[in-house]
Amino acid sequence: MNYCVVGLQWGDEGKGKVVDILAEHSDIVVRYGGGANAGHTVIVGDSRFALHLLPSGSVRPDTICVISNGVVVDPDVLIKGINTLAEKDISLDGRLLISENAHVVLDYHKQEDQLREESLAKNKLGTTIRGIGPCYADKVGRSYTVRMGDLRDTEALEAKLQTIVAYKNKIFAALYNAESIGADEIFEKCKIYAAKLLPFTIDTTEFLHKSIAGGKSILFEGAQGSLLDLDHGTFPFVTSSNSTSLGMPAGCGVPAKFVDKFIGVIKAYTTRVGAGPFPAEQDNETGQYIRDKGNEYGTTTGRPRRCGWFDAVAVAYGVTIGGIDEVALMHLDTLSGLEELKICKAYKINGEETTFFPANEARLSLAKPVYETVPGWSEDLTEVNDFQDLPVDAQNYVRRIEELIGKPITFVGVGPKRSQTIFRQ
Ligand code: IMP
Repeated sequence: MNYCVVGLQWGDEGKGKVVDILAEHSDIVVRYGGGANAGHTVIVGDSRFALHLLPSGSVRPDTICVISNGVVVDPDVLIKGINTLAEKDISLDGRLLISENAHVVLDYHKQEDQLREESLAKNKLGTTIRGIGPCYADKVGRSYTVRMGDLRDTEALEAKLQTIVAYKNKIFAALYNAESIGADEIFEKCKIYAAKLLPFTIDTTEFLHKSIAGGKSILFEGAQGSLLDLDHGTFPFVTSSNSTSLGMPAGCGVPAKFVDKFIGVIKAYTTRVGAGPFPAEQDNETGQYIRDKGNEYGTTTGRPRRCGWFDAVAVAYGVTIGGIDEVALMHLDTLSGLEELKICKAYKINGEETTFFPANEARLSLAKPVYETVPGWSEDLTEVNDFQDLPVDAQNYVRRIEELIGKPITFVGVGPKRSQTIFRQ
């Protein structure tokens, strides 16, 4: 089986754990988009891994991990990730493959992200400042880019960096009155990146197609969440890649027809980091309760996440545009202790009710959630292994979500560990 796992909300749904579980049955795990803005948490025994660029399968010693063309690679973060795993005796030698065509995030991208956000003041997007937007913008612009394969030719790279840095310095000085950055310093860093990362760098598209022909099973791991998709999310408060499953074929060169199952990951409530409309947001005691109980603070930036009720309109949209077959619902345990729960089942926009998510900021910001209220439960769920052993109200909550989003929920997460997962099929 080949699977593709994607988040169906605004990211942080718990994809890392789902990918880690499915990776047991996969030969290869592929990250196909985004960059070090992602933060996938995987807990193995007593060790907790916060992965930013390495696929979540990297903690399993026999899994081949691919970082494909669509990813923007921050070499500093990647090297740190490799070293962190090595400290825990997990080696990536011979099983990490990085695309020679993946674009490289360099210091000037991060600087540009920060300068732009600062200059936007209260209109800022709330990015992770990891240089993601500027690197993808350079990719689309084509003239000033460094790809992983460019690290091979030192002489050509040095000349390229001189041109790029001169261009960036002019823009940063004119727009932000920023100090100049040195091309030599970036070039020296690139030589270190080359020494460390070129042994892993290949044509990953060729590798993936040969693997498919050889009958290997592949797990495609999405980053961020569907509502952060550049084309189909809540623009402009989105990331700069296609974070729905629609980004998978373009991001790794494998047609979607090779995927047997698209699995969507959701949380039992909704969170969002950064700015942008969020109809079911609870900026109140309930939101704070969820934030504290669910430890809803960013893995990458540490920012408190905005929290709200489960939004079935938003998730049903992710299901529809992602071609989702089944769903993993995480963090059900976080909701224990709330007397009543609300589920957003429709929006009212200018007095008209809709169940189709408007991915247009002007319309979405007018959306008023239409809630239904269901009973909560007080029991701790973290030791439950069987769906039938969940409190009846928790079972009903899961079944009601299934009805509203129109897809079966086949995994239920009741805690961060691998073992705290209820399998329904
Ligand atoms: P960027 O991807 O750093 O440019 O940030 C753009 C928006 O996407 C911001 O609102 C970020 O908070 C959000 N974002 C990016 N990556 C993630 C993620 O992995 N989880 C949740 N939000 C994210």
